[in-house]
Amino acid sequence: MIDILRTADEVRARVRAIHRKGQRLALVPTMGALHEGHLSLVREGRRLAEVCAASIFVNPAQFGPREDLSRYPRDEAGDVAKCASAGAAFVWAPDTREVYPEGYQTYVEVSELSRRWCGEKRPGHFRGVATVVAKLFCAFEPDVALFGEKDFQQLAVIRRMVRDLGMAVEVVGMPIVREADGLALSSRNIYLSATERRSALGLSRALQAAAHLKANGETSASRLVEAASAELRAADARVDYVAVVDPTTLEPMDLVDRPARMLIAAHVGKTRLIDNAAL
Ligand code: PAF
Repeated sequence: MIDILRTADEVRARVRAIHRKGQRLALVPTMGALHEGHLSLVREGRRLAEVCAASIFVNPAQFGPREDLSRYPRDEAGDVAKCASAGAAFVWAPDTREVYPEGYQTYVEVSELSRRWCGEKRPGHFRGVATVVAKLFCAFEPDVALFGEKDFQQLAVIRRMVRDLGMAVEVVGMPIVREADGLALSSRNIYLSATERRSALGLSRALQAAAHLKANGETSASRLVEAASAELRAADARVDYVAVVDPTTLEPMDLVDRPARMLIAAHVGKTRLIDNAAL
């Protein structure tokens, strides 16, 4: 079994030993409840660097007061075993006080990219994400860090933070991993009942409907959004937002005459799901 480190000092000592050997380090930050999507990041991390490490930390700073922090799925032993089988060398699983010591007051805010979409619906969420990822980068000083494209806005926020703060880490985005029927893998899928899981398929169907229309020549973003929203309604998923955006700035587009991304957030029962695809 691989080591589970608890303190940032232990991580730093381990990282120093790796760098002394002239090895590169890849980091896969996670909140646990690992699925095949996370494991694809660990495997790619192993391909890009001699050593890949993962962090498991359910970050309170990125949950709103009415969100699912207390019921977020936790299975440290299972997660560590999965990390080991995918090739991770060690895991950092700190407790909350290690990351946010008494009196903590330093936050990272990526202002523009955090404003819209999930940022608007989940105030403070990206400030929490950027802060914890910055702290992870301080502890690990990784050469490469890998994130899934399912959290497309998160990935854009992290890329911007790295560029703005001049952090010496290469950020790699990895494709969404889906079930055979199209459902994007998510740690929150375990909240879904059988009926809700069928409704959740509305998200990938909505993206497919928009991509199909686009492939047939539709360039009006509002018509693509309408087609996707209709699929979500038909599946009984409550639309939080559907948007067609520039993949780098995440600003909304009217005319889809260049690469674009459709972003979707929808509620299925009590569970909020997100998905996205290139158009
Ligand atoms: O994507 C996640 O699991 C989290 O937002 C992250 C990047 C690990 C930060 O807590």
